[in-house]
Amino acid sequence: DLIACAALILAYLMGSVSAAILVCRAMRLPDPRTDGSRNPGTTNVLRIGGKPAAALTLTGDMLKGVIPVLLAREYGFDDVLLSAIGLAAFLGHLYPVFFRFEGGKGVATALGVLLTLHWGLGVSVVLLWVLAFALTRISSVGALTAFIAAPFLAWWLMPHAMLGVVGMSVLLLARHKRNILDLLSGKERSFRKQ
Ligand code: G3P
Repeated sequence: DLIACAALILAYLMGSVSAAILVCRAMRLPDPRTDGSRNPGTTNVLRIGGKPAAALTLTGDMLKGVIPVLLAREYGFDDVLLSAIGLAAFLGHLYPVFFRFEGGKGVATALGVLLTLHWGLGVSVVLLWVLAFALTRISSVGALTAFIAAPFLAWWLMPHAMLGVVGMSVLLLARHKRNILDLLSGKERSFRKQ
């Protein structure tokens, strides 16, 4: 119906607000789209600008997933629609209307969506990210591990959210194509201390 359509559009618009670009602008840091890995996301802001800027970026991009799903649940939408609204926010992050449709890879926003859809599902996916990152010190390995597992965990824990979770995972993995190629050729950026 009309309200569900409006909710999807509002979620997409909210997702389109890139925390990385705004934080870097506000803190007078280089543009994350032209520096480092050229990705407007938390990992690259950490490379360019350090921990405080990265923490702000992570918080902002996660909230874009949290807020629309939380509001939609308050309104009384069912789980299928909640996951679609989460997917809409995620699509905003990947294809932001405010930034020429050139956005990020969606890890933080997807984590915000998952944590809000289902606490246990979200925490499991976050823990997988942390574990894989701790072992490799490579952010993309954390993301790839977490979001290969996410659909299986959702299938088990929240089957009604499969549409949104599979949609986010497929697009997120596709967005990591460059990372996967660099991992295979041993060129991927790591946070290992030299
Ligand atoms: O969240 C994106 C991360 O998985 C990889 O980022 O900047 O290393 O391509 P980056």
